[in-house]
Amino acid sequence: MSPPEVSGKTACRRTAADGLFPDTDSVVKNFRNVKSDIIRYNLYGIFVSLWKPKTYRTMKFFIDTANLEQIRKAHELGVLDGVTTNPSLMAKENIRGTENCNRHYVEICNIVEGDVSAEVIATDFEGMVREGEALAALHPRIVVKLPCTAAGIRAVKYFAAKDIRTNCTLVFSVGQALLAAKAGATYVSPFVGRLDDISEDGVALVAHIVKVYRTYGYKTQVLAASIRHTQHIIQCLDAGADVATCPLAAIEGLLRHPMTNSGLEKFLADHARLNT
Ligand code: E4P
Repeated sequence: MSPPEVSGKTACRRTAADGLFPDTDSVVKNFRNVKSDIIRYNLYGIFVSLWKPKTYRTMKFFIDTANLEQIRKAHELGVLDGVTTNPSLMAKENIRGTENCNRHYVEICNIVEGDVSAEVIATDFEGMVREGEALAALHPRIVVKLPCTAAGIRAVKYFAAKDIRTNCTLVFSVGQALLAAKAGATYVSPFVGRLDDISEDGVALVAHIVKVYRTYGYKTQVLAASIRHTQHIIQCLDAGADVATCPLAAIEGLLRHPMTNSGLEKFLADHARLNT
């Protein structure tokens, strides 16, 4: 059956109503909708960016020593965020006996406004808990440092439940870092330099741990330890470490550049030529 005959005007109106060609009214209406959408979403974007707190991450600098003079020097530089110690570093300063060690930790806490890691000596769970509780009671900024052993992981879990902060140390694999994070460690310390010493890639381990923690949202901070030189610091920065604990020489090494020295010499010479 052939379609009924219609006039040109009717045909045009029917075609627009069928949606084949938009009429002027709907074009204007669509344009208004798009315009109000743009305004609405822009306002929403502005609101979200104002409301959402901005979070900037920086890599913290800890100094890896028990030497008070070096700690003061790094602190005076104005860039120090904390201190890590270990039994070898305490022995290097010739500090013996629990009382002297405790006094020394408090002295460090009085210099630096940041976390100070103090390591337990015990290797069994009960001993770690006993020593860790005594260390944590010394000062609110003390972080109990525990080795990444079965007893150490148990102790990390124990302290996490009591809101006592921990640094899980002697970490040489992603598996160890995973257990430390699952137990609730505040910090995990992969030993960069000691891995490099045996032809492994310490910085690659830091990067791997950072990736795993970010993927799964673990809150444990990656504290790159056993840093030997400035390049380690830069590489750990690139790897996304939360903290690098470094010897004073490595921190000071970051400053050194011959062009800074020669540039300054020239500035001062030019100034002196006209002012003396
Ligand atoms: C820090 O927490 C570690 O104990 C330390 O960085 C180890 O460094 P080392 O390998 O130079 O002894």
